[in-house]
Order: sequence, then structure tokens, then C-alpha cells
Amino acid sequence: MTTILVDQDLCTWCGICSVVCSMGVIDPADENTLPKVQEAKAGICIRCGHCEAHCPSQALLVNDRPDEKVPLPAGAGTIAPGEMGFYLKKRRSVRHFTKDPVPKEKILEVLENTRYAASGGNGQPVEWIVVHDPKNVQKIAGLTIEWMKTLVNSAHPMSGYLPVLIGAWERGNDVICRGAPHLLFATIPEGNPIAVTDAIIALTHFDVAAPAYGIGTCWAGFVAMAASSYEPLQKELGIPAGRKFAYAMMFGNPQYKIYGIPRRKMLAVSWL
Ligand SMILES: Cc1cc2nc3c(=O)[nH]c(=O)nc-3n(C[C@H](O)[C@H](O)[C@H](O)COP(=O)(O)O)c2cc1C
Repeated sequence: MTTILVDQDLCTWCGICSVVCSMGVIDPADENTLPKVQEAKAGICIRCGHCEAHCPSQALLVNDRPDEKVPLPAGAGTIAPGEMGFYLKKRRSVRHFTKDPVPKEKILEVLENTRYAASGGNGQPVEWIVVHDPKNVQKIAGLTIEWMKTLVNSAHPMSGYLPVLIGAWERGNDVICRGAPHLLFATIPEGNPIAVTDAIIALTHFDVAAPAYGIGTCWAGFVAMAASSYEPLQKELGIPAGRKFAYAMMFGNPQYKIYGIPRRKMLAVSWL
């Protein structure tokens, strides 16, 4: 059951924690009591932490997580709209990587950002499998090709395209993992319909954050499809019981620089 810890020396009785509570479970302070979670509603708290994040005097903590609450100094993390636009527009899929591995500590730094991704009901269901050894990445690419071979001449929507990919692989062209040194898999609990979306959001955080750390990424669609259905690949990845693959991403140090922003379809917007 969630409770909140309120420092009475810091609380200013402003009532904001109660107003911003996403589930409406916090009673505001009055002259006799500090803000508190209503006992009858404590079970529906989703531990989103909006009460502690919005508290102007840092008086409040959700009594739930082991990590430190990080204060947000005024102005920290703000970014000019134009800069944001350039940052997002210059994100590109990277398909050529140097041989240098990305250190595990750096990968963890980028993954740290994914902890703050939106998730349905604040469920935070996503866990990660990082394939760090490039030899294992190649093994997974090979298993993906094996999976493709099982689908040639089948009714699979990709079956017509598969011989081209298989042929390229057999000529030594890694069209599956693009020679990336690392692969990232998002896993989610089985039987949680919203978690698929949560995983894509978390992976998008990784995708968007990675370039700031000098890392290039590319969504690994073929690997993801194989991982969701091909048992030998699932075995190789050793997914924990009760969990399934949501999607995959390749990453590493980019070999080439980007000098421009490619053209895209024009915006399609309807207003109601
Ligand atoms: C769901 C998804 C799966 C993808 N799978 C692959 C893939 O298996 N191999 C690949 O080279 N690119 C893959 N891509 C990258 C797309 O081809 C790329 O995003 C698109 O061409 C636009 O280029 P940009 O990302 O540089 O803007 C995938 C992208 C998405 C969103």
C-alpha cells in the first residue's frame, strides 16, 4: 500500500500534491494534518510520483522506490524549440558502425533515460536484454536468416522478399543486423496488452537519447519478428519465463556523419 512521507518542516500546505495526484488519492493538508493518502484509496495509487515531482518545497516522497529523488534545479533540462527540432529531425537510422564496442556503463547511462518513459498506468513493464558481444549479434542475425528460410514459399507477407535477403546474407552482406556490434531487446510480461506500446515508447526513448551519447541506432525489424516467433532464437536469447519479446534495436558507434536532413512527406493534419 502506498503512503507518502511529508516533512512537516518543509511542507507549505500549498495543496498542489493533492491537485496533481493522477488518481485523486491525496487529501490536502489542513491546519491539523499534513497531506496524506486516503486509506480507502491507497490501493489505487499508481505511484506515478507526480505528487513528489510537483512539490515546490521538496517536502514529499512516495514511500515506494529505493532510488533517490532527484531535485530539478530551475531551468534544468529546458531546450530551445529550434534546438529540439534540429535534434529530432537529425535523428537517422544508422546502418554502418565502427568496430569499437560501446562500453556497458555508457549503455546503462542511455538506458537510464528509459526508466522515465510513459507507461500505461505507470506499469513500467519493460525489461531489457542487451546483446553486447558482437559474436552473439552475428549468431542472432544467422538465426534470423534461418527463420526466414522456414518462410520461403509460405503465405507469410514477406515471403517474396526473403530470397533477396537470404541471398545477400549468403554473399556476406549482413542485411539483418548491419554489422552492428550490439542489439537491444525490450521484453514485456505475457498477457499485458498495453505493454507492447510501453515497450515501443521505451525503445523510442533509447533511440532518441542515444545520439546525444554519440551512439547510433536502427530498429531491428527482422530480428524482432524472428524473436517473437522462432524458438531457436528465443532459446539463444534466454528470455525469462512469463515474458515475451516486444521489439529490438541495433546500436553501436556510427561510422559516418550526417550532414543534412532528408526530405519527408508533408504534414497531414485534420482539425476538428
Ligand atoms: C519498426 C521499424 C523496423 C525497422 N526495421 C529495420 C530493419 O530491420 N533494418 C533496417 O535496416 N532498418 C529498419 N528500420 C529503419 C527504417 O528503414 C527507417 O526508420 C526509415 O527508412 C526512415 O529512415 P530514418 O530512420 O533514418 O529516418 C526500421 C524502422 C522501424 C520504425
